[in-house]
Amino acid sequence: MDPCCGPRDSRRYDAVFDSVFSAAVARRYARRGLRALERGIVDFVVGAGIVGASVLEVGGGIGEIQLELLKRGAARAVNLELSAGNEEDAVRLAEAAGVVHRLERRVGVDLALAPGEVEVADVVVLHRVVSDPSSDDRPGKRPSKCPQPMTPRSPMSEVHA
Ligand SMILES: C[S@@+](CC[C@H](N)C(=O)[O-])C[C@H]1O[C@@H](n2cnc3c(N)ncnc32)[C@H](O)[C@@H]1O
Repeated sequence: MDPCCGPRDSRRYDAVFDSVFSAAVARRYARRGLRALERGIVDFVVGAGIVGASVLEVGGGIGEIQLELLKRGAARAVNLELSAGNEEDAVRLAEAAGVVHRLERRVGVDLALAPGEVEVADVVVLHRVVSDPSSDDRPGKRPSKCPQPMTPRSPMSEVHA
């Protein structure tokens, strides 16, 4: 795969974003809720109109943003993940929030490679989604073969509503 889009071996996502990473994020979310930036994303989307809408989150991890959107009236959400390490915590949190029946979690589908496999959604969220956990592609750094510098808006977050 082109190094601009991700690692050649997608198993590297399992190694980096594993169940230990997931458990730490889940513990923090359970204790303290969303972080400020995540609250900003949720508030923005709720302000744009979330009731009855469909949500697609790419690389949502344990899925705290989509959980909050489902609790605020989104009809359904789909989460795409390349790592399987989040699934146990994600399902447990969705069950606890009472929204698991409106949530579909798909592991191993890369939207960039298989756009036709994913349904169109009203709201698309990307938050802290990295292209290659083992490469030096921090915001502002240019991966060796990318034609343009990577300059994500607001710390690696995108919302399209
Ligand atoms: C830094 S974690 C952030 C998780 C969550 N969005 C958050 O902010 O807590 C990045 C996640 O994006 C996932 N990811 C990276 N590229 C992806 C892609 N093309 N499709 C789906 N998931 C992807 C990784 O597996 C990882 O779980």
